[in-house]
Amino acid sequence: MQIKNSIFVKSSTKNSECPPDNLPEFAFIGRSNVGKSSLINMLLQRKDIAKTSGTPGKTRLINHFLINEQWHLVDLPGYGYAKVSKSDRTSFMKMIYDYFESRPNMVNAFVLVDARHAPQKSDIEFMTWLGEHGIPFSVIMTKLDKLSSSELQKNKNVYHKKMAEVWEPLPPFFYTSSSAKTGREEVLQYMDYCLKLYAEGQ
Ligand code: GTP
Ligand code: MG
Repeated sequence: MQIKNSIFVKSSTKNSECPPDNLPEFAFIGRSNVGKSSLINMLLQRKDIAKTSGTPGKTRLINHFLINEQWHLVDLPGYGYAKVSKSDRTSFMKMIYDYFESRPNMVNAFVLVDARHAPQKSDIEFMTWLGEHGIPFSVIMTKLDKLSSSELQKNKNVYHKKMAEVWEPLPPFFYTSSSAKTGREEVLQYMDYCLKLYAEGQ
């Protein structure tokens, strides 16, 4: 798929402020600092259309981008960041759950996980919630430039094994580095495929 143009639409604090649900959309979600906003910039080939930061908790709102005048891409706040207060964590999580529950136009949620880390409880719990709510998702392992290919292979195996305890078949997996611009084509191709399936179902 070609990204012909990308426009920032708006930031919203709650569902009622979000753009209408009349366009197909993809969400990028995952723990704080995993690289959601960086990946969006890499996919869209824009330097900072999505705001990034080395300090976890940068994205605090629901951000919509309009792509090719046809579909939305959504940058969501991160979950599971230990250093924000418990009430902040609970309200972010509620914002995220409410968001997914209110979007019948959700084509696919990309759940980002850091390729360096073992499966985290918060990620597995979140994916389980998506599964229970019938929301299609796939997993993107991020920051590939930060580990060797043998470490990556080991971590992939651990992740697949952990997920196989719950999912059969496994959801699609993608492997990216926003710094090295790895994995862009694979993710875009999958989005294209999902959009076609979605259009057939309408
Ligand atoms: P929140 O909005 O805080 O939830 O974070 P986020 O998931 O949007 O992460 P963000 O894209 O802001 O990136 C967090 C930090 O990780 C920044 O310092 C990025 O430069 C860095 N980063 C993101 N992706 C990569 C990557 O592929 N490789 C490397 N080396 N660093 C990355
Ligand atoms: Mg962000």
